[in-house]
Amino acid sequence: MMDHLHKNNTQYISNPSPNPPPTGGLFENLLSVEPIFNNKELLRHSFTPDVLPHRDSQIQTLASILVAALRGDTPSNILIYGKTGTGKTASVRLVSRELEQASAQYDIPCEVKFINCEVVDTKYRILAELANTFIEKNIAYVLEKISKLETSLNDLPPNFNSSSSPQSEEGQSLHDEISKLKHDLNSFTKVPMTGWPTDTVYSTLVKALDYRERVVVIILDEIDKLVEKSGDDVLYNLSRMNSDLDRSRVSIKGISNDLTFTDYLDPRVKSSLGEEEIIFPPYNANQLNDILQNRATTAFKEGVLTDGVIRMCSAFAAQEHGDARRALDLLRTAGELAERSGGSQVTTAHVESAQEKIELDRVIEVIRTLPTQSKLILFTILVLVKKNISHITTGEVYNLYRQLCKERDSAVLTHRRVTDLISELDMLGIVNAIVVSKGRYGRTKQISLSVPQTNVEKELLSNHHLFGGLEDTSVIFQSHFGT
Ligand SMILES: Nc1ncnc2c1ncn2[C@@H]1O[C@H](COP(=O)(O)OP(=O)(O)OP(=O)(O)O)[C@@H](O)[C@H]1O
Ligand SMILES: [Mg+2]
Repeated sequence: MMDHLHKNNTQYISNPSPNPPPTGGLFENLLSVEPIFNNKELLRHSFTPDVLPHRDSQIQTLASILVAALRGDTPSNILIYGKTGTGKTASVRLVSRELEQASAQYDIPCEVKFINCEVVDTKYRILAELANTFIEKNIAYVLEKISKLETSLNDLPPNFNSSSSPQSEEGQSLHDEISKLKHDLNSFTKVPMTGWPTDTVYSTLVKALDYRERVVVIILDEIDKLVEKSGDDVLYNLSRMNSDLDRSRVSIKGISNDLTFTDYLDPRVKSSLGEEEIIFPPYNANQLNDILQNRATTAFKEGVLTDGVIRMCSAFAAQEHGDARRALDLLRTAGELAERSGGSQVTTAHVESAQEKIELDRVIEVIRTLPTQSKLILFTILVLVKKNISHITTGEVYNLYRQLCKERDSAVLTHRRVTDLISELDMLGIVNAIVVSKGRYGRTKQISLSVPQTNVEKELLSNHHLFGGLEDTSVIFQSHFGT
């Protein structure tokens, strides 16, 4: 359908009739460019492909542990580790999808619940989210059952399906079952997102899970973020939950990109969650090459990627600890840049620009999330750079910083602390601070921006009331430097 529409559009644009209708002038040029992507969505993080090259062994191990669920047993708990972009989430999602399909196919009740602990990050919220999920599943299950029973009731011969009709035992028992289920439906109460005692939320979850026999797989992605934010209390509850369940069974899969997070766990929780461990090693450049090749075939139009594009994306991403997400971002961004420049092919030059753009976006994001004092120091450096001061030293930054703080009624940090914060900005790749010797006056740091000045300025000024307009600083600047 889309292809058909698209062909018609291109035809219309490349052969405009003498009197084209007065529409779409702004988009005509853009639409007449041959698209580079076949389906860009296939390169997005949220898309989980059906095939994950170089993850066979991890996927096999996961499946061999989870198959227990299809036999009605409880699969061991698993902790999954690996650096960012090594395919942990994608692999677990792929196996979960297959598990649910197999469960439907063989009619063995097994349900998977995926929680991203970076978003759902407190004990209360995790328990509430789980409870509400299973209450909803129970409601759907009961409604379906009622509907089936009502169909059976309607299929009974007339006079046999009325509850008041003593002739039909079958009709009576169907009526009884339906009214029991309706009663159950009324008893399901969802947990509010705040306000209940956590014990009550926990017992509501246990009741919801135990409503019927099933194996439940709970996946806690970014589990380290949960422990960092809220401790291991909820993990303690979840890992012991099977002792409170009669009909159902729970199995937990934790995913983390921090190998050391279990150091912060209660030893009982640690041994229970880590019954099995699966490690996802970083990809090397050749593996990333295969991954990209695989996904690019369907994501791009045929023949638009010139030689070396995929290899360069893989090489850049391999330098960043073998991160497939970075490799995909590079390829997608290179495609977008090519598309925007009106080209019909993606070249290695586009990949180089994509690398720069992604790096810049990262730095801008870092600036956005800096604490206020660091922003103020960066702002001070920016003012000095804009005034073309040739050798910016820590002392100069500190003096101007102090004045800017006073001007803005903001707390003034010590010289020592400001020096530390400048080093942090250096480590984050926002400024470049090299130590220079000043002869008998000792050593100081010479500071410059490592990111384009306009980007820093735009980010700082657009997002923080502290800075006002740069013009405001010229008065202070004049009194300070006498220029
Ligand atoms: N073997 C692979 N084949 C195809 N795509 C992959 C593969 N491994 C990872 N990807 C893709 O790379 C991106 C990052 O993978 P994923 O989200 O699974 O990483 P992760 O290990 O969970 O990282 P993080 O720790 O940052 O959450 C996703 O878009 C995913 O689809
Ligand atoms: Mg992940």
